[in-house]
Amino acid sequence: MPSWRCFSYEEFNKATRGFHQGNGRERRICRSVPGELEDGQIIAVKRLTSAASDEHKEKEFLTELGTVGHVRHPNVTALLGCCIDKDLYLVFEFSSHGSLSSHLHDANSPPIAWTLRYEIIVGTARGLHYLHKECQRRIIHRDIKASNILLSACFQPQISDFGLAKWLPSVDSPGCSSYRGHIWMLAPEYFTRGIVDEKTDVFAFGVLILEVISGRKPVDGSHKSLLSWAKPYLNDVKIEMLVDARLEDYDFDQLKRLTFIASLCIRASPSWRPSMLEVLDLIEGSHVSPEKWEMPEVEVEEEDELWSFDDLDECDTPTSSASTICSKEAV
Ligand SMILES: Nc1ncnc2c1ncn2[C@@H]1O[C@H](COP(=O)(O)OP(=O)(O)O)[C@@H](O)[C@H]1O
Ligand SMILES: [Mg+2]
Repeated sequence: MPSWRCFSYEEFNKATRGFHQGNGRERRICRSVPGELEDGQIIAVKRLTSAASDEHKEKEFLTELGTVGHVRHPNVTALLGCCIDKDLYLVFEFSSHGSLSSHLHDANSPPIAWTLRYEIIVGTARGLHYLHKECQRRIIHRDIKASNILLSACFQPQISDFGLAKWLPSVDSPGCSSYRGHIWMLAPEYFTRGIVDEKTDVFAFGVLILEVISGRKPVDGSHKSLLSWAKPYLNDVKIEMLVDARLEDYDFDQLKRLTFIASLCIRASPSWRPSMLEVLDLIEGSHVSPEKWEMPEVEVEEEDELWSFDDLDECDTPTSSASTICSKEAV
């Protein structure tokens, strides 16, 4: 069973030598100094409020504590505890290689080798399948993206940042909830009907595959989305054009599988996307049968009508237009 404990403010304040925060995206996170904690563990402390009246952060704290606090999987970040003295803090195992995003996109990070990229995608798929189907109470993450995938000391991917996560009903049922994740990872049903379920995570996972293979951000400086750029290559036989130009070597069979999976995950209609279990089967199975995944003509037409990747390019404001037409949330 997962277990976590309450830390005292003094304990981690001393361990982090006064909670010196990092820069930019990591400003809310602080790492402990090796050797400062009695058990020798290195922790990452995440501060969730700067003002006691900040209700949104309080909700994020409780959501993250409630969800990640009851899960335990090698591909999900491990919560060690929390602290409610002075502010709201969550304490995690420290992932020494930081986020996948910094490895993919920081100018001074060497390119990640193909084998590792492949393993990161497989590990993330395992973690997501666990959240969707295997843990005690099923969870949709709702914010799958490279900055929320951490890398452990041995580069094991760990899904993190459960601030937007939601419980799923215990039995499969159509999703119905508002979505608040990053716009470039958003599935079209969010735009058309404001609905999310685990297939929304599957869509974001498809975008993540393309990001990991290509080393391109979901949206780059020219404001062109990764999906608009990648889609023509996915539909063509030129999948090698998707591979990060900095990579000299890659496995073509793995590339074929991953791009095929990505093309299924980013389908407009959630029901035509695979579950994460099917994704794992497609990755690990001995034979891939594309015919099993062919869509009837009418669905293809509907997809084009409902959803164009260019729609994303025209939209600037993340999540601001979130509309929920469902009368009640999924949980
Ligand atoms: N346990 C951890 N170990 C190492 N780095 C972490 C850890 N948790 C978070 N970080 C770093 O801090 C960043 C932001 O953390 P995250 O939990 O995603 O918060 P935010 O809500 O600000 O996105 C991550 O992208 C990662 O670089
Ligand atoms: Mg994050």
